[in-house]
Amino acid sequence: MNSKVYIETFGCQMNVADTERAVTGLRKAGYEMTSLPNEADVVLLNTCSVRERAERKVFRRVSELRKSPRHPVIGVMGCVAQLEGSSIFQRASAVDLVIGTQATDRIPSLLARIRDGEESVLDLDERQEGEVWDVSPAERRSPYVAFVPIIEGCNKFCSFCIVPYSRGREKSRGANEIVAEVQQLRSLGYKEVQLIGQNVNSYRPKTEDGLEGYAGATAFSRLLRAVAETGIERIKFTTSFPRDFHPDIVSAIEEYPNLCNWVHLPVQSGSDRMLKAMRRGHTSADYLRRVEIIKSSSRSLALTSDIIVGFPGESEQDFADTMKLVRDCEFDGLFIFKYSKRSRTPAANFDDAVSESDKTARFLALEELQIELQDKTYNRQVGRALSVLVEKQSARSNEDVSGHSTCNKVVNFKGNTTQRGSIVDVLISEAKPNSLYGTAISG
Ligand code: 5AD
Ligand code: SF4
Repeated sequence: MNSKVYIETFGCQMNVADTERAVTGLRKAGYEMTSLPNEADVVLLNTCSVRERAERKVFRRVSELRKSPRHPVIGVMGCVAQLEGSSIFQRASAVDLVIGTQATDRIPSLLARIRDGEESVLDLDERQEGEVWDVSPAERRSPYVAFVPIIEGCNKFCSFCIVPYSRGREKSRGANEIVAEVQQLRSLGYKEVQLIGQNVNSYRPKTEDGLEGYAGATAFSRLLRAVAETGIERIKFTTSFPRDFHPDIVSAIEEYPNLCNWVHLPVQSGSDRMLKAMRRGHTSADYLRRVEIIKSSSRSLALTSDIIVGFPGESEQDFADTMKLVRDCEFDGLFIFKYSKRSRTPAANFDDAVSESDKTARFLALEELQIELQDKTYNRQVGRALSVLVEKQSARSNEDVSGHSTCNKVVNFKGNTTQRGSIVDVLISEAKPNSLYGTAISG
């Protein structure tokens, strides 16, 4: 009997949530989990394919694992599994099992088939009726912060992005189920939930069950209010899509203190020509209008974003437009990516690739600008008191603890690990490049 399972997770929070769900099902089926790949009988790699580099990593890991003396059963799950399907068996013969993104609940039965002697087991099917999102609290990554998926997949088909192919069409969870999960998490002592999805604000459940009685211009803003009413201390949500970002989201945040003051709103480019080629469905002016609404909120909301540099056809002028937009937005945080060609996406057939050296130069120029701007936004926090959820001991000093503010910044301060899981007001005294430092004034 294959009894011990090790799972390695790459990529986004959705993969982290899927791993938690997979572990829940495996334990129910009698498997033990291990954190040591060398003692595992089954190794599962939960993979990401958003950029080519992430995808290559999977195959490197498989060839390392193949050499492990224990010869574990090797399974590939997640986005690479869904996209590459049976070709994974050809490319990496050590792989026994390919588990698509909607087959998470079926892993125990797929492993049983391997145990029964079947080779090369593949499941790329859709989720089946009755497979509800079930994560045992014991399997969650943190005892204080829980990811709660509210929508899976994406219908937007931005021309560079593989997600609509790897995760399928948008499917929203029922609001009743989400609210019940948050209530359960609250009663277990969780302090923060992060509502996650590729585009949370495209949330569109089949029925209004659980949302009746909540005001709100969109199903998502009604859901925010319903989740806020559970009384859980902190609620964050990510990722938001500009076209669907309704001002009522900001109104909901202003009404409920437990809705945190942070919005992650990827723009991808500051050039309208590029935004059109990316098929984003918004212009830079549309984006800036959203930013204006977010920034003029009485809650002083933090704003973070994603940008791709070197999309096919991006000229120096297009890139200058991106630099200008970034300067105008003064993001609290920015994830910068060099464009990576993903086969099957429309952009894979676009001409006019930007050279690697130009991509790198633009990446570095944008990064330098962001560092300069972030220094300003972080220094603005000095002298303010931020509410911080203490998560762990700081990596830098034994005397410091570390956590996130409601505006999702890393904050370190003098404290001890008995404070883990508590929410402490911290007076900020110093801004560092990606974190803040301060002194506890409560808790
Ligand atoms: N190349 C580079 N970056 C990409 N992203 C998505 N697809 C690609 C790609 N093909 C980035 C986007 C997205 C983030 C999660 O990953 O910026 O918002
Ligand atoms: Fe990808 Fe665009 Fe969907 Fe985001 S909105 S997941 S970038 S296709």
